[in-house]
Formats: sequence, C-alpha cells, structure tokens
Amino acid sequence: MIYLDNAATTYPKPRSVRNAAAGAVNAANPGRSGHRLSLSASEQIYRCRVKAAELFGASSPENVIFTSGCTQAANMVIKGVMSKKGGHVVVSDLEHNAVMRPLRAMANDGVTYTVVKTSENDEETLGAFREALRSDTRLVVCTQISNVWGIRLPVERIAAMCRQYGIPVMIDAAQSAGVVKINAADNFDFVCIAGHKGLYAPMGTGILIAQRPEIMRTIIEGGTGSKSRLLEMPDILPDKFESGTPNFSGIVGMSAGIDFINSIGEERIRAHEVGLLAKLYDRLSQNRRVILYTKRPQRDNCGGVLSFNIDDMDSESVAALLDERGIAVRAGLHCAPTAHEHFGTQDTGTVRVSASYFTTENEIFAAARAIEAITHKK
Ligand code: ALA
Repeated sequence: MIYLDNAATTYPKPRSVRNAAAGAVNAANPGRSGHRLSLSASEQIYRCRVKAAELFGASSPENVIFTSGCTQAANMVIKGVMSKKGGHVVVSDLEHNAVMRPLRAMANDGVTYTVVKTSENDEETLGAFREALRSDTRLVVCTQISNVWGIRLPVERIAAMCRQYGIPVMIDAAQSAGVVKINAADNFDFVCIAGHKGLYAPMGTGILIAQRPEIMRTIIEGGTGSKSRLLEMPDILPDKFESGTPNFSGIVGMSAGIDFINSIGEERIRAHEVGLLAKLYDRLSQNRRVILYTKRPQRDNCGGVLSFNIDDMDSESVAALLDERGIAVRAGLHCAPTAHEHFGTQDTGTVRVSASYFTTENEIFAAARAIEAITHKK
C-alpha cells in the first residue's frame, strides 16, 4: 500500500516513536502518587513538556497543555474564551470543523462570527481580516495550513495586526506543526497542535500552547493530583487545564516524535513534502481530465497537501479506484465544508493527496500513474 493520507494521520510512525509509546503502555499514573514509578512517569511527561515548549516557542513548559488532539485544543480555546460573555469571532474561510462546529455550538451563548474570504495575495487576506474586526470581536481564529488545499495563510501578520487592536489570536496548527517553525511567544496567544500528524506521535495526542491562559475558562474539570482539597480547579498551570489521567504512552510517543522533528528540521521536512507534491502537480496538470484548484505547490506558501478532481467523477469513487490500485488517499469534504466553499467544491469534495517525510518520489509517480490509468479508462 502506498500511503498518501498523511494529513489525516502520518503513517508510518518512526520506529523510535513506536518503541517509546509501546514501552510506556505499562506505567504508573503520573502526578498522582509519591512512589518512584509515578514520579518517573511525571518526569517523562515533564520532559515532553519542555521539548514542546522549545519546539513551539512557548514562554515556559507550563504554557504547554496536553490534549487529546487539535480538536480538543480548539474547543478549549473557543469555548474557554467565549463562554458566558458572548461576542464576535473572526475566522478564515479555510477552517476545519474543529473550529466551525464549536463556534456554531456557541451560538446559544450569544456568539456570532464572520468568515473572512482569504486570497492568494497576503495583503488582501490581511485587509479582509482587518475589515472583519468589530468593536465586540473577542477572538480571531485562523488555520496556518489548510487541511484541504495545503494553502498557507500569513498568520504571523494577521496576529501582529490583531495585537494592535488587543484581540487575542488562536491558530490551528493541525497541518503546520512539524513542518513550519512556530514561535508562539512572539506571535500567538493560542496554538492548537495535533500530535499524530506532523509530530509523528500516536493518535489521541495533541498540544495547546496557551500564552494567555488567564483569559480562558476551563471546559473540563476533574482530578489533577494537586490541591485536591479544593472543589474548584487549581489555579496553577498546566493543572488547571489538564484534568484526568493523561494519555501517558501517547505523550511519551510524542516526545520521541519531537526528537524526530528536531533531528531533521521543519524546513527540510516541508521542502521534501512540497517538492514531491509539486512533481505530482506537474504530472496532473498535463492531464486534461484532472482539475487542479491551487497554484503549483511552493515551499513558502503551502504544506504537503494537494487536492484535485477528475472532471465529472465523484471524488469518493476516484479514491476507491485508487485504493484498488494500492494508493491510500482521502476524498470528500475532509471535515472542512467551509474550506471547500473557497473553491466551490462543497458539493463534490475533492481527492486529497498528502505526503510525509517518509513519502518517496517513486510513490508519488506510482500515484500519478494510477490517476492517469483511471482517467484513461473511463
Ligand atoms: N483533520 C484530518 C484530515 O484532514 C483528520 O484528514
């Protein structure tokens, strides 16, 4: 099987990640007890927190909150910042349902939102965000790399502009963490990260970098192993936002995943992935039956994701035919109907190819041949 569905989750995981996660399944509960097994588990979690703070430029390891994934992190920010007070949120038109659904759910709390039409021109995107801001805007949310189109948005510039107005910014780094250098302290108030994608960690892992935790209420309460007499959540970080037994083996796996990223570097990983997709793009652009929506992938303005369609064929049928030929891709709406509206594919969806550091040129050319075989057959 040639796996080109890395935007859903990276596969394979590095051997170091698999070994670390498997070795951590048999463990004591971290942070709950005073015995050495528990303390050793706590230390391993802390080591991952320190590494994550360094990789993502958090002010301190305490600003690193472990979550079950990017979706939980986005819910924590959107609901935690907006609940009870209502107000307005500005989002890009490339957002995933991890952002759009919590926003919609917050309508009952009086939250409204504006969807900004982004552009290939960063100045226009910036201007559109500026225009959407209102006096009651309390949060701006923007994906860094679209999970459907691979388009990279100028989130640092958007955040700098919002800072002038005192509006906090959350970025969805589900597709960018591990392939783009992120410096949270210098740029963002909140960064939502998936562990199992660009960090090559097990599924069920994620990180929220919360640079402004003081404006976020808790949305989950429970045991933390600290200040247990209090019925209120302890006001210390990261405990306040991490209740319940953590995903220990996942976090230990993520720690090895961060080592893997550090051993290669985000720029090299992105250059590899985008370079491969540019080659696929060149092949597909010679095929009159293939519809391409975005510009040719380039290292500076996109990630390792490419969406296409074959003229009147249903995207799910194309993915099924590719699967028959041993190529794994994801078709449909990719849990991001709003992002599909950007290019008018909300009714058809697209076929999405996504690479990882392990994807090879041979695999990309095999996928190109399989797509060509489908277009020639019909
Ligand atoms: N959000 C993931 C994707 O884009 C699962 O496929």
